[in-house]
Amino acid sequence: MNKQDNIKTKKFFIETWGCQMNEEDSEKLSGMLKNIGYQKTSEKTSADIIIFNTCCVRENAELKVYGNLGMLRKLKEKKPELIIAICGCMMQQDNMAQDIIKRFPFVDIIFGTHNAYKFPEYLNRVMQDGKSIIEIQQKEDGIVEGVPIDRESSIKAFVTIMYGCNNFCSYCIVPYVRGRERSRSPESIEKEIKDLVKKGYKEITLLGQNVNSYGKDLKPKVTFANLLKRINNVSGLDRLRFMTPHPKDFTDDVIDAIAECDKLCEQVHLPIQSGSTRLLKKMNRNYSKEKYLALVDKIKDKIPDAAITTDIIVGFPGETEDDFQDTLDVAKKVQYDSAFTFIFSKRKGTPADEMKDQIPDDVKHERFNRLVEVINESSAKKNKLYEGRIEEILVEGTSKNDESKLMGRTRSGKLVNFLGNSEDIGKLVKVHIIKANSFSLYGEEVK
Ligand code: SAH
Ligand code: SF4
Ligand code: F3S
Repeated sequence: MNKQDNIKTKKFFIETWGCQMNEEDSEKLSGMLKNIGYQKTSEKTSADIIIFNTCCVRENAELKVYGNLGMLRKLKEKKPELIIAICGCMMQQDNMAQDIIKRFPFVDIIFGTHNAYKFPEYLNRVMQDGKSIIEIQQKEDGIVEGVPIDRESSIKAFVTIMYGCNNFCSYCIVPYVRGRERSRSPESIEKEIKDLVKKGYKEITLLGQNVNSYGKDLKPKVTFANLLKRINNVSGLDRLRFMTPHPKDFTDDVIDAIAECDKLCEQVHLPIQSGSTRLLKKMNRNYSKEKYLALVDKIKDKIPDAAITTDIIVGFPGETEDDFQDTLDVAKKVQYDSAFTFIFSKRKGTPADEMKDQIPDDVKHERFNRLVEVINESSAKKNKLYEGRIEEILVEGTSKNDESKLMGRTRSGKLVNFLGNSEDIGKLVKVHIIKANSFSLYGEEVK
């Protein structure tokens, strides 16, 4: 039987690692496959196509991919017609695709971040001649508009406003695997958001590796603050967020836009990475501890209710106890609502991989634990402030661990589980916050 017969009943499974960029690419792969008649399944064993969308930002992200690939060997032996495709950031690294095919010769298709939109073409080819395909593009193709997106949620959506990164922080592999910064036109962003609102979406998060350098590559130039104001005017939209801004590009007009635009939520994710000015220089971050703290003060001053969150790396090469104390000092001064904390991981091809004075694992772990303690303390303190308050919540669905409760988020981004009416899913409701737990809030809907 030709493999293309019966295409309507064929199923695909996608596993996605990494950040929202990969999530979006997976939603596009899913959209393209649905367009040509495939169905999505959440079980690998019932799939005709398995896609792994990989991340390589830290070593353990890669280890997960290898582990999962090994497990597919048996599945492919049992079902030789199964098509296995690997894509994403990890594949963009030098020689990675060749290594994967050597170690896992049963993989059918390997492609990268710049050509994911060509997946249906690769699928067709492999079905015709059965030969493995490796297609990695070193350079980005510019921006490809109009790829169908099969979104996970029907309430909130991520909309990419720019691709790539030009910053080359010395520890980070993202610029090497995602290419240079390319901004979408404000018209196409606005159109996508208006279409989403028409479909009933209530919350949009604008995405990019460094959103506040948006528009610098456009002609005429468009500022990020202007884009925010433009999107804030889309009627029918309830909430607007963005991720991730870089502290070096956080201009006053962006702070003013958050303060003035009613839909822009009071939440700022502001990655610090390290509190030590000496290390920030080695990281190529282009700000000092003092500048960062002054920026936080300005944000707190103009947006008093803002939740501030961050990313922090411990154990960067050459980090002394004094450097680490600077990081703890910033964490204590800022009082973060939450933080993603990472242990430095060497990435091939990045300057930090070659730096001397790599920090021993036991020191990294010991510092990591001390940092997490400080973050948890401020996080608990911040959550406690919500007890007794009435908060506006966008209801996203039922709670993960308890179907009798609903869950949603405050404007500041706090997760709230609460007693309420399931007919309110997708709506904005008022919730009385009764109790603050370590990582979430608990409350009751106000009638
Ligand atoms: N563009 C975003 C996100 C980049 S990746 C930003 O600049 O904030 C997400 C986070 O992973 C980074 O903020 C950083 O804290 C962490 N990270 C990146 N490379 C890393 C590495 N080699 N080791 C440990 N953490 C890393
Ligand atoms: Fe990586 Fe730095 Fe770019 Fe973020 S800004 S993606 S940390 S290089
Ligand atoms: Fe990972 Fe690529 Fe995102 S390396 S963090 S999936 S941009």
